Amino acid sequence: MVKICCIGAGYVGGPTMAVIALKCPEIQVAVVDISVPRISAWNSDTLPIYEPGLDEVVKKCRGKNLFFSSDVEKHVSEADIVFVSVNTPTKTQGLGAGKAADLTYWESAARMIADVSKSNKIVVEKSTVPVKTAEAIEKILTHNSKGINFQILSNPEFLAEGTAIQDLFEPDRVLIGGRGTPDGQKAIKALRDVYAHWVPMDRIICTNLWSAELSKLAANAFLAQRISSVNAMSALCEATGADVSQVSHAVGKDTRIGPKFLNASVGFGGSCFQKDILNLVYICECNGLPEVANYWKQVIKVNDYQKTRFVNRIVSSMFNTVSGKKIAILGFAFKKDTGDTRETPAIDVCKGLLGDKAMLSIYDPQVSEEQIQRDLSMNKFDWDHPVHLQPTSPSSMKQVSVVWDAYAATKDAHGICILTEWDEFKTLDYQKIYDNMQKPAFVFDGRNIVDVPKLREIGFIVYSIGKPLDEWLKDMPAVA
Ligand code: UDX
Ligand code: UDX
Ligand code: ADP
Repeated sequence: MVKICCIGAGYVGGPTMAVIALKCPEIQVAVVDISVPRISAWNSDTLPIYEPGLDEVVKKCRGKNLFFSSDVEKHVSEADIVFVSVNTPTKTQGLGAGKAADLTYWESAARMIADVSKSNKIVVEKSTVPVKTAEAIEKILTHNSKGINFQILSNPEFLAEGTAIQDLFEPDRVLIGGRGTPDGQKAIKALRDVYAHWVPMDRIICTNLWSAELSKLAANAFLAQRISSVNAMSALCEATGADVSQVSHAVGKDTRIGPKFLNASVGFGGSCFQKDILNLVYICECNGLPEVANYWKQVIKVNDYQKTRFVNRIVSSMFNTVSGKKIAILGFAFKKDTGDTRETPAIDVCKGLLGDKAMLSIYDPQVSEEQIQRDLSMNKFDWDHPVHLQPTSPSSMKQVSVVWDAYAATKDAHGICILTEWDEFKTLDYQKIYDNMQKPAFVFDGRNIVDVPKLREIGFIVYSIGKPLDEWLKDMPAVA
């Protein structure tokens, strides 16, 4: 029986291993983590992450061929294939701060593998890491190997949150990078055989190590670039009276461009896009390629611009001040169908409004009050460094309340900001909401989900990203 162990029971490690266990009943899969509460949650009825379909998969396999444990060393030492799926935050201090990936967790995992291994192992890089990390890890392993053979593979994960299970069941591709040596090729084949249980062979791409590592950074950079491109267009649409949805539709009909990932928004979020681009930028700079670095930096600048522009729009349309005004925030997660708030645009928008002394009433169907308060009091990049969290401005927390219902959030509010595209926000009783708000009542739709003409008919002043502006807003220009 092949034994697989995955170090890191997070958003990537947990669902990926659950699906491997489901699709490969003869393989024993152990997911290990240093966080005991996280492992307990994986072993309970309330899993630590919200992901449609995940519960069922876990329930089918847990206790049979899928195990969650905090006994990291035992499971690593017994495994034939060790996946490493630990966090790789952006460095906050020292060389490369604010850009480079912090590989502390990766390195400590690698040293531990070398320490406890008594048999040959395939070590699989699953976290997104800078190009040539595999080579560095290989050095740590071989220099500490005590005669054991380690083969390193890069097998980046492309799942998106909210659709993780679907993405794992039917991936566009599985990418496996490894060495060209006979042992390297043998390792690639062993991992390919795991995926071949359910993924068609023509979707399993085998490359060298560095191509696999770079492809992951490149894919995320391209996706983020599409969003910044359409968001840049949204600003121009507002200025000219074009409608960004019509522009996206027309552009996406070109089969060379394609229709996906062209939704204008208040900005992209999530744990990967910004982090991976910063990482890419840093690698370019280190390799003496400033023009390439600047090209990708612009994707993040436009994303930041989009968030600032949104906040400015809110403040300027409400007579240039939101001080003391109740603003309802509908949605805090970085996208729908997840409770994840890492790098969510809601953090920057809320902080911008708090800076202007607004009183925020926040509702998200999946995010806890504790999480929201933590996010709003944390420094940039600190979210993935669990050890040294330092709240920055606890005083501003008096301005924030978290409620469990959209109607409570909007009651007596001056304005509503929609920051996550949860389906339930499309079908709210907006007439009832309008009746209970201060007047003039504003809606700022950062996800283009509301029926603009209908809301205007009710009496709302509506701002929707990249759409022709309400007369009111034309008279109150926002300068970012
Ligand atoms: C382009 C658009 O494709 C077309 O829709 C529009 O109406 C006019 O402009 P054209 O300039 O004729 O058409 O050629 P195109 O095939 O788009 O190539 C433009 C340039 O990009 C060429 O120099 C081509 O060599 C280059 N190119 C194209 C690349 O370098 N890489 C590619 O992957 C594709
Ligand atoms: C992304 C990649 O899609 C995935 O392949 C990779 O493995 C991890 O990073 P994820 O961050 O989970 O996945 O979500 P994604 O669906 O890509 O959305 C990222 C952000 O972009 C969200 O904030 C989303 O709201 C935003 N977005 C997405 C837009 O603003 N417009 C779009 O058209 C698409
Ligand atoms: P991702 O989104 O990439 O899956 P997460 O932050 O959700 O990242 O998960 C990473 C997990 O890795 C965390 O639960 C963390 O506790 C765990 N982890 C980090 N370092 C180690 C380590 N050395 N050994 C075991 N688990 C680790």
